[in-house]
Order: sequence, then C-alpha cells, then structure tokens
Amino acid sequence: MAKGPVLITGGAGFIGSHLTDALLAKGHAVRILDDLSTGKRSNLPLDNPAVELIEGDVADAALVARAMTGCSAVAHLAAVASVQASVDDPVRTHQSNFIGTLNVCEAMRQSGVKRVLFASSAAVYGNNGEGQSIDEDTPKAPLTPYASDKLASEFYFDFYRRQHDLEPVVFRFFNIYGPRQDPSSPYSGVISIFSERAQKGLPITVFGDGEQTRDFVYVEDLVDVLVQAIEKPEVEVGAVNVGWNQATTLKQMLQALAAVVGDLPPISYGPARSGDIRHSRADNQRLLQRFSFPPQTPMSVGLARLLGR
Ligand code: NAD
Ligand code: UD1
Repeated sequence: MAKGPVLITGGAGFIGSHLTDALLAKGHAVRILDDLSTGKRSNLPLDNPAVELIEGDVADAALVARAMTGCSAVAHLAAVASVQASVDDPVRTHQSNFIGTLNVCEAMRQSGVKRVLFASSAAVYGNNGEGQSIDEDTPKAPLTPYASDKLASEFYFDFYRRQHDLEPVVFRFFNIYGPRQDPSSPYSGVISIFSERAQKGLPITVFGDGEQTRDFVYVEDLVDVLVQAIEKPEVEVGAVNVGWNQATTLKQMLQALAAVVGDLPPISYGPARSGDIRHSRADNQRLLQRFSFPPQTPMSVGLARLLGR
C-alpha cells in the first residue's frame, strides 16, 4: 500500500471514529474531513500526532481535493446518516450524500489515489418480505432520497472504477450500533435513542407496531472488515452486504435492553414513519467469502458495552 494518511470523510462520527482508532492501532496515519454536523472532536484522539482533522464540507470540491493530497486510500463515510432527515429535507441531504461522493471521486481521479471504501446502505433494497434475507443482486428499490443518493453514489464509484481505475469497495451496511452513536436527535439510530432513554428512565416511543425487523451489527465487528478493505492487495467488483443474516424485531431489541438495564421506562407506540423499511436482513455469503468477518458480538454484550455495564 502507498504511504500517506488514510483520508476518512465523516471520521469524527460514530463509525468513522471507531475506524480511526482501528487504523491508528494498525500503524496508519489518518486525516479526517468532517463538518462536525453530527460528529464530534471529542470522538477523536486529537493529541495523537498521526491524526489530522480538517473541518469542512465534502460538498466543497476544492476542499476535498486539498484533503486528498498525499493520501494512500480513502474511507468515504461522510453523509447525513438519517433516512428520515432525507425525507424531510432532500435538497440539503443530497449535498452531503451525493455531491460529496462525486467530489471524492473527482479528487481521487485528479490525485491518483485508487483505493476507496464507501459506506452504502441496506436502504438501497427498499422493502423485502418478512424473513427474507437479501443478497447483493436483489433488485434495488430505494424508497427515500437517502437510499437514492447511496445507490447513485454506488453507480458513480463503478463508473470511476471502469473509466479511471479506482478501486472502490462498496459496503451496504445494515444497522450498526455501539458507543459514540449520538442519541441526541430524534433522527439518531434507534438503539442509541432507546438505550439512552432506558438509562435515564425517560419514556420510549416505538414508531409502528415494533414488529419491524433490522439486522443489527456491533460497530467493532464492522470496523474489523473496513480495515481489511483498506489493506487488501486486490479488490473484487460488486457491493458487499454487512449484516449477520439475523432479523431482530424492535420488541426483541427492547427485551434485550431490559435484560441489561432492568426495568424499562414506559413504552408507547406511535404511527410508523413514512418511507420506513419494514424488514431488513442481510444475506452475507459474499462478505464471508471475501473478508474474515469476526465472531459476532452478541446483542447482550454489545448493549452492555454501549451502556458501560
Ligand atoms: P454519523 O452521523 O455519526 O457520521 C457521519 C459523519 O459525517 C459525522 O461525523 C458528520 O459530522 C459527517 N458529515 C455529515 N455531512 C458532512 C458533510 N457534508 N461534510 C463533511 N462531513 C459530514 O453516522 P454513522 O452512523 O457513523 O454513519 C457513517 C456512514 O455510514 C454514513 O455514510 C451512513 O450513511 C452510513 N451508514 C450508517 C449505518 C448505521 O447503521 N449507522 C448504516 C448504513 C450506512
Ligand atoms: C439506519 C441508519 C441508516 C442506514 C440504515 C441501514 C441511522 C440514524 N440510520 O436507518 O443510516 O443506512 O439503518 O439499514 O443510523 N424507531 C423507533 N423509535 C425511535 C427511532 C426509530 O421506533 O425513536 C424505529 C424506526 O421507525 C425504524 C427503526 O426504529 O423502524 C430503525 O430506525 P433507525 O435507527 O432510524 O434506522 P433505519 O431507518 O433502519
């Protein structure tokens, strides 16, 4: 692998800061480009001389080009991660979630950096049947601007692969959870919100009947695979699902939470969110073939770590 720092866009966020720690532990230097819209300086070991933070927007092409200079590889994670935010404000989220990707592709082409991993999403598949696990060839049916921006980004990475020899590794993350996932907004990841409210004894609202399912992955398990994608000598074509092929209902997740914290606060059920996916479960054969996926962190352990128990 070429020398030079790994550029992590969105590196001050939840997944990006864990990836930063993992890359530092393997001896890489890291340069982060983040506008700190949901990310935080406090997520980063900024006293480590191998970490550099550039505060700014991936929608700013000149800034992305500057940040790319001298880098060995890129992890493109910067995005508005909330599906619901894209439903409410598609124009704003498109700037980060698509224009940011195009700027990363162009800056790579201009600077000759080849390897990039991209945080796409299970959201590109839209709805699937209950109990059905989806492989990467399942027809794509994005239901929201968020999912459309992720799918369009995938197509652009593929174009730059064919036309300009970029080496994209596209991951479709299912639902990632763990420490540093910010619970402070109603748009935050459901486990971060429910755990914080359970810990503080505040009421919990489930949108819908709580029977919707997600394939939850503890963040450290994901990060292990992301580091492999940066370091692999060769990359294969085609996106890779990251999930455990396990469907957990929100009600089951709440039971697991209750087992960690004891009694839960009152739970109410409100209307389902528009654009919300009902069932989501990864067929992960391709992941298992291409990467060594670590042993699964069980939800009981992941939740206990998240809650500091
Ligand atoms: P996060 O909100 O913690 O991280 C996103 C980071 O990007 C933040 O640090 C934020 O400040 C930064 N950012 C946002 N817009 C930016 C912009 N215009 N310019 C520069 N920085 C910007 O969320 P996360 O859960 O860590 O998500 C990381 C990536 O993984 C995102 O691309 C998200 O879509 C994707 N993803 C996450 C999940 C999940 O379950 N958490 C699942 C699928 C895909
Ligand atoms: C999440 C990620 C998204 C990713 C996708 C991949 C976040 C914020 N979103 O979207 O980036 O691409 O997984 O699968 O990380 N819910 C409640 N009550 C709440 C909050 C949420 O019932 O207070 C419900 C939602 O309606 C939904 C489920 O919990 O049915 C999961 O919601 P959320 O954590 O926002 O995740 P996704 O929409 O799946």
